[in-house]
Amino acid sequence: MRLLVKNIKTLAGIDRHGKLRLQGSEMQTLEQINDAYLTAEDGLITGFGTMDSLTDAEAAADTVVDAEGGTLMPSWCDPHTHIVYAGSREGEFVDKIRGLSYAEIAKRGGGILNSADLLHTMTEDQLYEQAMRRVREVMMKGTGCVEIKSGYGLNTEDELKMLRVIRRIKETAPIKVVSTFLGAHAVGRQYTQDEYVRLVVEEMIPEVGREHLADYVDVFCDEGFFTPEETDRILEAGAKWGMLPKIHADELASSGGVEIGVKRNALSVDHLESMTEEEIELLRGSGTMPTVLPGTSFFLNLPYALARKMVDAGLGVAVASDYNPGSTPSGDMKFIVSLACIKLRLLPAEAINAATINSAYAMGLSRDYGSIAVGKVANFFITEPIPSIDYIPYAYTSPVIRRVFARGQEIGF
Ligand code: NIG
Ligand code: FE
Repeated sequence: MRLLVKNIKTLAGIDRHGKLRLQGSEMQTLEQINDAYLTAEDGLITGFGTMDSLTDAEAAADTVVDAEGGTLMPSWCDPHTHIVYAGSREGEFVDKIRGLSYAEIAKRGGGILNSADLLHTMTEDQLYEQAMRRVREVMMKGTGCVEIKSGYGLNTEDELKMLRVIRRIKETAPIKVVSTFLGAHAVGRQYTQDEYVRLVVEEMIPEVGREHLADYVDVFCDEGFFTPEETDRILEAGAKWGMLPKIHADELASSGGVEIGVKRNALSVDHLESMTEEEIELLRGSGTMPTVLPGTSFFLNLPYALARKMVDAGLGVAVASDYNPGSTPSGDMKFIVSLACIKLRLLPAEAINAATINSAYAMGLSRDYGSIAVGKVANFFITEPIPSIDYIPYAYTSPVIRRVFARGQEIGF
């Protein structure tokens, strides 16, 4: 199967150096060529260049797509979601408008525990159907790689049920999916804190490991949820089964999660709404990608993470949607890129790199995804004709993404 996309006004997000992540001022580089074409074969990018350099051999493809003067970019990579969940929680949305905080709702036994109660009553098939509707929604909005967490099971059986649903999504969705075990998302109703941490360490992680159900391990390391010590124990148990950490840190308070993350070589530390300047120092020189979730700050009226300061300090930054029923029921990565510009003060090129190559890195995928390079997977989208790449975050609710491709195949609307 050979694909040719022609008449691309701007081909953006080209990577000629094979960098796995961009840091500091490198994040301003978004290489582009105008009047371009791109070719792919068997799902991988095989070439690109200016239209006048297109050879006859390249032009003789099985499928020819006319980009009609649109911009072609690597698909969004969303490295932090909770897209498998049951139902919705708009009641809490109203409670929050009336004045309750996210933390207060959680303390009263609502929040994550409400989602767990509902998930308990649902079959794998029902959960899969609900989750796939959301996966299709984000695919059409240009997401080509997504990380999905467990964490609404909160007992061994239901955590495994969630992970099996994620495995089924991996097998059936055209986009790339990675899975993260987040048993330590909240303490299940029937357990004490200690009992639950023991259950995660001694029963859940070994089961998940034996069945190869998760690529990564996560802990909600925050005030009112899990302490840094508990987080450390859980990450140590995950490491025995080869699961690298990606952790929830500093969402509700400065939690100590960044320090544990760096110590345990986490792939990413995520949220960071309440991070401190000292934590920026901790991240320097590490392989851990700070991953910022501006949709959560927007939806919960929380502070925004210090993304600008991190980039100015020479760090790379990634962004993610955090799509979940409680703190941000949206997986629209284009809107996240807009928020990254408007609220995090990232330049459009920085925000786009944060949502492509750096977010691919934050889920261990940047060797194969997150930029336009020969040999990378042909997951990309084409926009309507737009004046420049800056227009994408600027037009913050316009659906400029017109056509979406995964492994070189168009995904139908
Ligand atoms: O990333 N912070 C923890 N977990 C989710 C929220 C989950 C929920 O409220 O259902 C988050 O914000
Ligand atoms: Fe989250």
